[in-house]
Amino acid sequence: MSVTTKTSQPAVYDDGVVRGFAVMSVIYGVVGMLVGVIIAAQLTWPELNLGIEWLTYGRLRPLHTSAVIFAFGGSALFAASYYVVQRTCHTKLFAGKLAWFTFWGWNAIVLSVVITYPLGLTQGREYAEMIWPIDLLIAVVWVSYAVVFFGTVGIRKVRHIYVANWFFGAYIITIALLHIFNNLAIPTSATHSYSAYAGVQDAMVQWWYGHNAVGFFLTAAFLGMMYYFIPKQAERPVYSYRLSIVHFWALIFTYMWAGPHHLHYTALPDWTQSVGMVFSLILLAPSWGGMINGIMTLSGAWHKLRDDPILRFLIVSLSFYGMSTFEGPMMSIKTVNALSHYTDWTVGHVHSGALGWVGLVTMGSLYYLIPRLYGQKKMYSVPAIELHFWIATIGIVLYIAAMWIAGVMQGLMWRSVNPDGSLTYTFVESVKATFPFYVIRLVGGLLYLGGMLVMTWNMVMTIRQGRVVDVPVLAVNPAHA
Ligand code: HEM
Ligand code: HEM
Repeated sequence: MSVTTKTSQPAVYDDGVVRGFAVMSVIYGVVGMLVGVIIAAQLTWPELNLGIEWLTYGRLRPLHTSAVIFAFGGSALFAASYYVVQRTCHTKLFAGKLAWFTFWGWNAIVLSVVITYPLGLTQGREYAEMIWPIDLLIAVVWVSYAVVFFGTVGIRKVRHIYVANWFFGAYIITIALLHIFNNLAIPTSATHSYSAYAGVQDAMVQWWYGHNAVGFFLTAAFLGMMYYFIPKQAERPVYSYRLSIVHFWALIFTYMWAGPHHLHYTALPDWTQSVGMVFSLILLAPSWGGMINGIMTLSGAWHKLRDDPILRFLIVSLSFYGMSTFEGPMMSIKTVNALSHYTDWTVGHVHSGALGWVGLVTMGSLYYLIPRLYGQKKMYSVPAIELHFWIATIGIVLYIAAMWIAGVMQGLMWRSVNPDGSLTYTFVESVKATFPFYVIRLVGGLLYLGGMLVMTWNMVMTIRQGRVVDVPVLAVNPAHA
């Protein structure tokens, strides 16, 4: 029996908006990573800003972070959550037109960012640089997103709510909360405002936001992706559904408290820093629980890794997730942070999570989605997926290894003192010593960007040979009802 509409036409999934977000994610990936490569080159050869204020490092860096996190990652998450919630709830989207509003609204936000950041219009809060009018638009779009997502869960045709939706739901609610409270501000003009908080409270709120942007945007939401696309691509059920539920509650409870690890040795009360450190150490357990659950989903089917490059993207992303969630708790230990903070070690940690985890899981999921959204069984070229996988992986390794070595070296050089108490090295000497590692990072970034270009070509060819088909909503399976 198929689910039918009032006119008794079989109901079809709302995949148009999923297609829109999936394609935009790939395009934004290229743009965001290109800006990443440009700023990596500027750190190596500062004169590459060509003396033009719009192209200075300080303006392009937030453009890079917002473009990759919100435009590339965000669009992929919209696509994945809209696709997954329909398939797992056996229904089309609630308020399909509102879903299209989120698409146009999100793209308008990205466009505003691309215009305002190079002009120097910013709030100066990391990952929340958007000026207040853009913040208002984000709030409206995000609330609409929540209505579409939870509305769809509300009209589901099966009793059970699949675990991926729990992760997507937590991310949607938490990002709304973080966005609204971190951006409370008093406008002084159309483009300028003052934060509602002052001094150390301001810093605390900002890093409560910043850390949970990592925890909920860059982690929980992509775990939602992982819990749907790995079992699908591997054609096996999740290794332990019980573990996935424990993973969910433990992860979302713990993340909330870890933010102060960004403010070690600052004016923030010492006990608050210690709370941040302890919760960060505890966070290792749920993070690894989730990673193990994802990887073990392949048990009995390891051979698939040999000839399925999409599965390789997904599983290797989890290995990087495990690596960065081991490294993070270590860096949150105050004595380790005393060495790592302000150095390129942090940048290495960020990109092992960003390129390795977020990037690869997104690419793997998009390779699963794109052919299906265009009525095809697989991407136009599977060898091109293979090529993408290898150049991206080599790029990541070059990037993060260079930053780790540079970071530890910088930390050691800065703290090194002569017997008379004077510094052994000047700051400039540490900058000079870092130069070769910046070149290696640039090469890594170019490879990663190259992979993204291969993906773009493959996507265009898949779309060209494909066609848009209406997919009927799944019949209700009584076993799942
Ligand atoms: C071609 C790929 C990429 C290159 C070459 C690149 C390069 C860079 C560079 C040069 C910086 C500035 C580092 C500094 O301040 O010293 C940076 C920062 C950052 N990038 Fe990337 N990036 C790439 C991809 C990505 C992706 C895909 C993401 C996220 C999904 C990402 C997230 C970030 C974040 C969050 C920061 C700020 C780090 C911090 O404040 O410590 N990057 N990137
Ligand atoms: C158990 C999980 C994790 C813990 C406990 C953790 C902990 C940390 C610590 C201690 C820092 C350095 C703070 C500083 O010295 O300023 C940091 C920075 C950062 N981490 Fe993680 N991390 C975790 C996982 C991840 C993952 C998976 C990602 C990315 C997908 C990520 C992205 C970042 C970013 C973007 C920053 C830089 C923030 C900034 O200064 O701009 N982290 N993390």
